[in-house]
Amino acid sequence: MLKYILVFVGTICLSQAKHEEYIGHSLYGVQVYTREQANLLMELVERLYLDVWTYPNPETEGLILVAPDKKPEFEDNLTVINSTYRIDTENIKEKLDLEDKLMAEAHIKSNASRSDRFGLSFDVIHRWAVVDRYLVDVANRFPRVARVVSAGRSVEGRDIKYLRLSTDNFANRNKPVIFIQSLLHAREWVTLPVTLWAIQELVINVTEQDLIRNIDWIILPIANPDGYEFSHTRTRMWRKNRRTGHHASCVGVDPNRNYDYFWGTASSRDPCSETFHGPRAFSEPETLVTRNIMNSFRTRISLYLDIHSFGSMILFGFAAPSPGRLPPNHATLTSVGNQMARAIDRVKWARHPNYRVGNIAQLLFVASGGGTDWAQALLPNRLSFAYELPAHRGQSNINGFLVEPAFIRQAGFETWQGIKVAARFVVRNRELLQ
Ligand SMILES: *[C@@H]1O[C@H](CO)[C@@H](O)[C@H](O)[C@H]1NC(C)=O
Ligand SMILES: *[C@@H]1O[C@H](CO)[C@@H](O)[C@H](O)[C@H]1NC(C)=O
Ligand SMILES: *[C@@H]1O[C@H](CO)[C@@H](O)[C@H](O)[C@H]1NC(C)=O
Ligand SMILES: *[C@@H]1O[C@H](CO)[C@@H](O)[C@H](O)[C@H]1NC(C)=O
Ligand SMILES: [Zn+2]
Repeated sequence: MLKYILVFVGTICLSQAKHEEYIGHSLYGVQVYTREQANLLMELVERLYLDVWTYPNPETEGLILVAPDKKPEFEDNLTVINSTYRIDTENIKEKLDLEDKLMAEAHIKSNASRSDRFGLSFDVIHRWAVVDRYLVDVANRFPRVARVVSAGRSVEGRDIKYLRLSTDNFANRNKPVIFIQSLLHAREWVTLPVTLWAIQELVINVTEQDLIRNIDWIILPIANPDGYEFSHTRTRMWRKNRRTGHHASCVGVDPNRNYDYFWGTASSRDPCSETFHGPRAFSEPETLVTRNIMNSFRTRISLYLDIHSFGSMILFGFAAPSPGRLPPNHATLTSVGNQMARAIDRVKWARHPNYRVGNIAQLLFVASGGGTDWAQALLPNRLSFAYELPAHRGQSNINGFLVEPAFIRQAGFETWQGIKVAARFVVRNRELLQ
């Protein structure tokens, strides 16, 4: 016990020295009333290099993180474009420290209650090295259903691994394939338990056997390992990968603007922007991994799920300002999305809003080079969705990208209810999804 207490105290001392770069950064809740105002606001965001947590539009308040030196200009300009604002969180550093503290406590409790049962726990957010090791362990322990694949290396050389789950090693070409990835955006930590939950349910618990019998799965828990680790060790709100060489001091390409669908038409060419699209489509190893997976299984992939946070939404293409705007099968996407949403809403925590379902450009904002768009365009009749998980504001009052440990298990559990609905839909509707 003394050992735990010492570790605990040590962790807290460390956490106090962290997050200095966020001192005095405030989270603004910003309301716009027209699309034009939303566009002006986004110009302002790009000009001041602000960090958008959620896109503002007439239906939804936006959340934007602003550094102290930029507040006067930001507030002035908000007044000019007639949008109104409130301060959601005065000093975000306090919340980051609080998240560290809660997470450190959760780790101690988790270690103390660790059982001999195989599998990763759902009481903490696991780091890359732990997950990387786990994928190998799963494959070793369950060789008849699980195989681990090293799909490539990140910019900094971390292995990007995924699991192939199948009762016949992908031999039955009539089975649909489902591809799920999480953590393409580094800071969206709460997305990790979703893919880990899927692995647990399909390989270890196997309470619903039809899901593994009738479907082959590809599950990639950490799509952007460098960014993810950096968000743990240094900059909590890191979003991009860790590509260098495009600017003297600004690092990173936004992988979700780097896919080859109207690449570069509604994203940033500025390496210092949070939505920098990279030098060309698929310039990044993290997006190439997705492309290779999709191309290898393109005749069989029925469902593509990219798990993001936050906002309680199930979204489909197109986000880019493309000619069609909506995919040809948007009625099917809407119907399946609604079924997924209702399945989650039935078991979600009461204080969270119901999931909304719709087109990315309509519910959020226009953006090019997204993975969901690219997958939808590659496989026009199949289902391509992005999830935005709920922003949980718990008793500790941390929210947005910050994770309260109490929500981790629920995030895995409830999202899986939606995934199961889509999975069973693709089994029943093979002819629709050719
Ligand atoms: C934004 O604010 C700055 C100073 O706070 C001002 O110089 C600039 O003109 C404003 N921009 C617009 C578009 O109003
Ligand atoms: C802001 O409001 C003023 C006065 O109502 C109006 O003249 C102006 O066009 C508005 N600006 C925007 C960007 O909506
Ligand atoms: C929990 O256990 C892991 C693995 O044994 C160890 O690496 C970690 O430091 C422990 N954390 C705490 C807070 O005790
Ligand atoms: C797996 O089974 C355990 C033990 O029955 C249960 O607690 C857990 O919720 C199940 N699912 C996952 C994903 O852990
Ligand atoms: Zn995201």
